[in-house]
Amino acid sequence: MGNVVVVGAQWGDEGKGKLVDWLSEQADTVVRFQGGHNAGHTLVIGENVYKLSLLPSGVVRPGKLGIIGNGVVLDPYALAAEIDRLAKQGVIINRDNLRVAENVALILSVHRELDGLRESGPVGTTIGTTKRGIGPAYEDKVGRRAIRLMDLAEPDALPARVERLLLHHNALRRGAGLPEFEAAAIIKELMDIAPRVLPFMDVVWRLMDEERRAGKRILFEGAQGALLDVDHGTYPYVTSSNTVAGQAATGSGIGPGQVGYVLGIAKAYTTRVGEGPFPTELHDEIGERIGINGHEFGTVTGRKRRCGWFDAVLVRQTVRTSGINGIALTKLDILDGFDEIKICTGYRLDGHEIDYLPASQAQQARVEAIYETFEGWEGVTGGARSWKDLPAQAIKYVRRIEELIGAPVALVSTSPERDDTILVQNPFEA
Ligand code: GDP
Ligand code: IMO
Ligand code: MG
Repeated sequence: MGNVVVVGAQWGDEGKGKLVDWLSEQADTVVRFQGGHNAGHTLVIGENVYKLSLLPSGVVRPGKLGIIGNGVVLDPYALAAEIDRLAKQGVIINRDNLRVAENVALILSVHRELDGLRESGPVGTTIGTTKRGIGPAYEDKVGRRAIRLMDLAEPDALPARVERLLLHHNALRRGAGLPEFEAAAIIKELMDIAPRVLPFMDVVWRLMDEERRAGKRILFEGAQGALLDVDHGTYPYVTSSNTVAGQAATGSGIGPGQVGYVLGIAKAYTTRVGEGPFPTELHDEIGERIGINGHEFGTVTGRKRRCGWFDAVLVRQTVRTSGINGIALTKLDILDGFDEIKICTGYRLDGHEIDYLPASQAQQARVEAIYETFEGWEGVTGGARSWKDLPAQAIKYVRRIEELIGAPVALVSTSPERDDTILVQNPFEA
């Protein structure tokens, strides 16, 4: 029995958190490998609702080890706040159930400010980010000037590292006519929070190797979705990390052969937060209805999510760029009661039909969706826990999606609640 990686197959918010929580019953270790607290994963377990941004969604189950891998960008204040929030809900986080990679790059106030500054720029230059400082922190990591978690354990060397970072940031600040950052303030910001986060520090690549050798089952939890991938997504309207399944290896320090089964999470329709192309977006009352029924408001920023029909072209593409072995189809219940449901099967671009989304930004803006129209179903899928609970027409819809995307549906989710899940093929046993 192998490991499993869960990745978003659309633009994020597909229900990864729910599925990771559900699957984590069978796992020993749950690992975040990219992104940061731009993610918002909601778990509903009976009366309790947990909203996680940085912590792996397995932490709410006792006895599971959560790991924040090197591929994440970590805001230490956000981590401390999330730990405090969970403690109020009775979930205690300590070194027994959380480790953070020593080489994780940190998000500082300079990153949050810069993200916000850019997002307040003129129309046409903004991305609609979560303003959490994600992009600027990854820029500093790749630019080789980031402060990493381990640097907090070496306070003597910290001033030189902060100076190096500020050489870059203060040049930007001067250019924008803003006051420069003081090194002392940044050092204080870091030293104040160090005692809260250093206790979790570990050599994660080695820990992962030990877990693997001990036969532990590892569940990798992706954040965002494949269409927000910095390489394979709708650039520049993407996040600043690789979100495809291949990143699970790089972002935690194990070989690609150890990642195992790739479970893509896709909603039965499509949503997107922030700017960027969205070929099946609905600007009418049907889009509104999906948004209201699906409570499509962001967990992190509260923004209204844009809604549209299921786009099989895009999911077929992400099945390939992530090597998806099976899909968990979520929020099928939100389509209950629709007379008609549409699926996008191809695009028209400048008079030609194409079967993929081109990388060109101009072409992405011009593609028009080609639809297949489906009769809706009577009866409810909401709360269904087995195939036989599903109306025949809903099963037909799921089967058609499988055919179009070229991957089997391994799970179907029919409500926010943990156990309202239909298992077709267990990813851990595939
Ligand atoms: P994530 O970012 O991929 O983890 O997804 P989010 O948690 O941001 O958004 C998914 C939302 O849909 C959450 O509020 C979930 O509780 C909810 N959800 C997940 N699966 C289902 C489902 O099958 N049906 C319904 N109605 N809600 C779901
Ligand atoms: P989860 O894990 C949906 C989007 C933002 C914006 C773009 C860049 O909950 O699925 P960033 O702050 O990352 O620089 O923003 O990416 N975005 C998400 N959209 N779900 C997410 O995470 C997202 N994380 C980032 O809205 O368009
Ligand atoms: Mg989310």
